[in-house]
Amino acid sequence: MQGDAIRNAIRRHPFAVNRVAGNRYDGRLSLPQFVPMSRLFKQRRSPIHGNGVFAVATIPAKTELVEYRGRLLTHAQADRMYDGTTDTGHTFLFTLNERYVIDANFEGNVARWINHSCVPNCRAVVEENQQGRRREDRVLIESLREIAAGEELTYDYGISLGERLTPRLKKIWECRCGHARCIGTMLKPKRKPVDRSKNGTT
Ligand SMILES: C[S@@+](CC[C@H](N)C(=O)[O-])C[C@H]1O[C@@H](n2cnc3c(N)ncnc32)[C@H](O)[C@@H]1O
Ligand SMILES: [Zn+2]
Repeated sequence: MQGDAIRNAIRRHPFAVNRVAGNRYDGRLSLPQFVPMSRLFKQRRSPIHGNGVFAVATIPAKTELVEYRGRLLTHAQADRMYDGTTDTGHTFLFTLNERYVIDANFEGNVARWINHSCVPNCRAVVEENQQGRRREDRVLIESLREIAAGEELTYDYGISLGERLTPRLKKIWECRCGHARCIGTMLKPKRKPVDRSKNGTT
């Protein structure tokens, strides 16, 4: 069972806001064409962990910054490749949808260096293909608020395991985001099942 938990854990389950491609909602900003996105942020060593990504200019709120790229694997392929390799809590895998995982160990881009924070300044959004072609869904990282030059870009990985969070699991997935409100782990508490009998819902 432990193995299952770790296998699940290697998939990051972001608090993804799913939307359909082309359905540009809620007034997200597009920067003027002459400002290439790649000039707004840069990879360098991070106090949180390893490499991180940092703003090099002011980034406006609600701005689509970068796609999380990598090789597409089925969940079964990801299990075969990475089962038993996650004792460090290090992963470049990202759950795209119920069929596919993005593996940024291969063909990854700068997005794979963005670290997790309990109080992030960005979020991950899964943009669903309009025709339902699940291979063509995409993960986009966008800013939640204005980000000053020099700030590290972060989003909430939202990793949730299907079992109780033991001290061992919390240690493996320890969070070092350094925020005053850091909860100490990258894992989300297991959700309690809703007791529908209490509110009369059938
Ligand atoms: C997609 S990588 C991010 C890039 C990573 N810093 C690197 O240099 O490889 C995700 C991994 O980075 C580490 N990481 C990211 N955010 C972290 C955090 N807040 N605290 C501790 N480790 C973190 C974990 O090992 C996680 O599995
Ligand atoms: Zn934290």
